[in-house]
Amino acid sequence: MPEVPRTRMPDATLALINDPYRFISKRCREYGSDLFETRLMLQRATCMTGPEAARLFYDESRFIRRGAMVGRIQKTLLGKGGVQGLDDEAHRHRKQMFMSLMSPERIASLIARTAEEWDACARTWSLKGEVVLYDELHVLLTRAACAWAGVPLAEPEVEQRTREITALFDYAGSAGPKHWWARLARKRSNRWIESIIGDIRDARIHPPEQSAAHVIAWHRDLEGELLTPHVAAVELLNVIRPIVAVGVYITFAAHALHRHPECRRKLQADDNASYTESFVQEVRRFYPFFPAVAARVRREFEWNGYPFPKGRRVLLDLYGTDRDARSWESPEAFQPERFRDWDRSPFSFIPQGGGEFHVHHRCPGEWITIELMKLASKTLSRRIRYDVPEQNLRIDYSRLPALPRSRFIISNVRPDL
Ligand code: HEM
Repeated sequence: MPEVPRTRMPDATLALINDPYRFISKRCREYGSDLFETRLMLQRATCMTGPEAARLFYDESRFIRRGAMVGRIQKTLLGKGGVQGLDDEAHRHRKQMFMSLMSPERIASLIARTAEEWDACARTWSLKGEVVLYDELHVLLTRAACAWAGVPLAEPEVEQRTREITALFDYAGSAGPKHWWARLARKRSNRWIESIIGDIRDARIHPPEQSAAHVIAWHRDLEGELLTPHVAAVELLNVIRPIVAVGVYITFAAHALHRHPECRRKLQADDNASYTESFVQEVRRFYPFFPAVAARVRREFEWNGYPFPKGRRVLLDLYGTDRDARSWESPEAFQPERFRDWDRSPFSFIPQGGGEFHVHHRCPGEWITIELMKLASKTLSRRIRYDVPEQNLRIDYSRLPALPRSRFIISNVRPDL
């Protein structure tokens, strides 16, 4: 049996927090191995990278999600009782509820709503000297997400709700006061959405039948019971929150357009949208967002001679797998064209998880994410013009999610509407 490489430090939690995106791949390279053992929060954990490790990770006979999530992420980003922590039949049944929201018609309706918000924002931005794109996108996407999901959002509420939803993902990985603000934001957002679920069930409001609010409020579990108001709110926020979080990728798309002016020209000349799709995929491959996902070993097994004891927490490296030189030529280069003849492997390109949408925990919002990014890339390259003033565009990899330090400032916005 080959010896499992082990980190030398007694506990690696701090090293992971300080360098979340490169923690796993850096050590795997150093040990010449696809996996290593360490201690995280004083418990033994196995960290893995690469397409073969991803294939293993999504084998449901070997891993479960129950109890895998780190507590502080559950208390902020995800909430308790959501689809992320379910396994087997219960997971598949709940997952189907999310997948039913992702029909081409429903996605087109979100994109149409979001395009209206882009136009309105472009007009407002043109009246200001400069704006911070990342911050502006939160409001834009919160309005679009709530309207699409059937969640009423009165004008005076927009600012506060936007701030709370944003805190769920923007501060989830923070320590200290920002973490506590994210926990408070989780409580407040859940209370708000629980009251909306109550209003739907008591027929005080009537969102459209295909909307996320309606579907989730009336979803029944395998026993035929409605979800508790708390869990229904967690799941509705599982739709709204990540739509707002797509602002992270849109900020990176703007970053890529600035760093690679030839991409802007190609987007402008792209009449059948095939380059736009490749550009967006390369943004998702190249830029950091989710560093890793976690599971626990269902029952003891061996893989390539390495032992996986029952209950062990296992982390799969998403960011490093997307930049693995065994799957990607010159992985450190930004090259949208690489997606022209990409093999569509479900295990080598996994910024939003791998495997199959209906079966595994792979993100059900991937198509929405891609379409929102395509709309944003078209808008930034064709529908508005802007300047990019001097600013610090270096990416801060120590925060979660990573972002350009300036959050991407644009000035002198001219809508080309
Ligand atoms: C799951 C990333 C957008 C809803 C996930 C997972 C990742 C991820 C890494 C976990 C995969 C796993 O556990 O194996 C992202 C990123 C997004 C995004 C980077 C860009 C902003 C969205 C959108 C939606 C969404 C737009 C919904 C509208 C979900 C849900 C799950 C999930 C409900 C849990 C699925 C399950 O456990 O079966 N996402 N996501 N995400 N995502 Fe996304």
